[in-house]
Amino acid sequence: MKKERKTAFRAALEAGKLILERVGDKHKIDYKSPFNLVTDVDKASEALILEIIRSEFPEDEILAEESGASKQKSSRLWVIDPIDGTTNFAHGYPFFCVSIGLVEDNERILGVVLNPVADELFWAEKGGGAFCNDEEIRVSSVPHLNESLLATGFPPNTAHAERTNMEQFQTLTSLSHGVRRDGAAALDICFVACGRLDGFWERKLSPWDVAAASLIVEEAGGKVTDLSGKKFDLREGHIIASNALIHEEVVGALAEQLHEVGS
Ligand code: IPD
Ligand code: CA
Ligand code: CA
Repeated sequence: MKKERKTAFRAALEAGKLILERVGDKHKIDYKSPFNLVTDVDKASEALILEIIRSEFPEDEILAEESGASKQKSSRLWVIDPIDGTTNFAHGYPFFCVSIGLVEDNERILGVVLNPVADELFWAEKGGGAFCNDEEIRVSSVPHLNESLLATGFPPNTAHAERTNMEQFQTLTSLSHGVRRDGAAALDICFVACGRLDGFWERKLSPWDVAAASLIVEEAGGKVTDLSGKKFDLREGHIIASNALIHEEVVGALAEQLHEVGS
């Protein structure tokens, strides 16, 4: 695993450097759908990461947000988000990250998330604990929802109002110290891993949003499930990530609205 970890670190750090050099520039923005943007820097970051991973592991399969799935098939799959928090990046709002996960035989075994602005590299290997740079990290010990700080996210296309997260947002806001919406799911989940937040939930994320961070929070002692408390499935992308202690309370609080939207 050492080579995999070193390669993921190098890819994330080089991509982070490229992203930082270009934050605040005028970007070429394309729209994947009305509010789902992608910049030239997302594409450049992804190209750089893919080049590094392919040069070290040419046999491995890759799933990356901007270029999709690679042609070759393998039991090992790298899952890459070249900028998580693109809307933030495009506006110069300093909350975005690079996310690189490695899955083997459908099990998440390595996760690396870099916040280039804060120079924080969150990472974990299956069974080896979780770290921010060189320091081991743990989830918080906040025992109850009414003492917790949470985060959530919203899909970029909110055209179908009944399928958005507004009701859950309102409910959980009234039951906790508050719910942040900071716009980069992978980084939000790493904030749960290091105890800055106590829980996070979102519907319908993509594998590249959560592959790395979900392992990091588990390795930090947290719990990850789908929105009804059942086994988390990377392909479904419905996620609650918490410090484990408040998990059942979050599941319970979300339950009524989830029933209504049929999740
Ligand atoms: C988005 C961010 C955001 C989440 C969206 C994602 P992107 O990823 O993680 O926080 O709410 O659902 O699509 O598009 O910035 O990589
Ligand atoms: Ca993303
Ligand atoms: Ca992205």
